[in-house]
Amino acid sequence: MNPTEIAPSVVLGPADQPARSPAPSTALTGDDRELVIRDLHVVPVADPSHEILKGIDLSVRKGEVHAIMGRNGSGKTTLAYALMGHPSYQVTRGEVLWKGIDILALSPDKRARLGLFLAFQYPTAIPGLSVASFLRTALNARRRGIAGGDTEIDPSDPTRGGISMGDFRRLIREKMALLRLEDSFAGRYVNEGFSGGEKKRLEMLQMAVLQPEFAVLDETDSGLDIDALRIVAEGVNAQLSAELGVLLITHYQRLLNYITPDVVHVLAAGRIVRSGGRDLALQLEQEGYGPILRDAGLPDLGTDEAEAPEEEPQ
Ligand SMILES: Nc1ncnc2c1ncn2[C@@H]1O[C@H](COP(=O)(O)OP(=O)(O)OP(=O)(O)O)[C@@H](O)[C@H]1O
Ligand SMILES: [Mg+2]
Repeated sequence: MNPTEIAPSVVLGPADQPARSPAPSTALTGDDRELVIRDLHVVPVADPSHEILKGIDLSVRKGEVHAIMGRNGSGKTTLAYALMGHPSYQVTRGEVLWKGIDILALSPDKRARLGLFLAFQYPTAIPGLSVASFLRTALNARRRGIAGGDTEIDPSDPTRGGISMGDFRRLIREKMALLRLEDSFAGRYVNEGFSGGEKKRLEMLQMAVLQPEFAVLDETDSGLDIDALRIVAEGVNAQLSAELGVLLITHYQRLLNYITPDVVHVLAAGRIVRSGGRDLALQLEQEGYGPILRDAGLPDLGTDEAEAPEEEPQ
């Protein structure tokens, strides 16, 4: 599929998602510092007979960084999209709790307003919309969310709780400096003619401006040269705090040299087949996925892309 069909990370999405069978699990429990994924099954709307995710169970607490690794086509992006409510994917079973709420019933923009953020593997161009306008609109929508949807507060109006133009300029200058982006970047159209590395930096800039409470970073390292990788990783590290949970999707252990995960998970055949510490990523780099797949009783088809860099489609 072409995942470039929706706009970057704060999207005003379609109506709330249709019902699905609930997970045969315990009642909704509330720990508002944790994202809990239970028995998540996902199919693409275009081909509902093809189940991509076959029961994902995963919990990530605020303050933690979890890495998800897996071969091409293992379902990593599908998981990211399902968490954010991409309309091309349907959750057929399971639940995702965030702040004690089953967010699967919510539209993507409501999820964003609850502090969830997705940095896309393949960000979309929006000709005619400048980076600055885009970020300001996104920030205003997020502030409205923080304000609890209070319609008396108009985030775009500084006299009614919004951010003033001066404050906004200062904020994006500060965040752009963090990511070593030139000031002129703010005036360019979103992702139009951006290099692969610039697209990834814009994703990180959005994250820095929006200050989410939970971020899913899908292959934030792909297409980056080694200096850009370090800058982006520093940008992420600067945002890590006890108030941010991160799900870091990556193919390469090299990103994990810069951003240290608390837990590493391996996704294969639609499930998490192994979880471990940082060492698991090192083991994958040395041995590939073969041994872990064999241990999980799965056929070892295909090559280990840990050995061959991926070409990023533009
Ligand atoms: N909309 C769709 N329609 C049909 N099949 C889909 C759709 N989206 C994903 N798939 C299939 O689901 C599988 C998982 O895709 P996904 O993009 O989630 O993998 P990934 O782990 O992110 O891979 P990569 O490492 O290459 O980014 C693939 O076989 C893909 O072709
Ligand atoms: Mg992917």
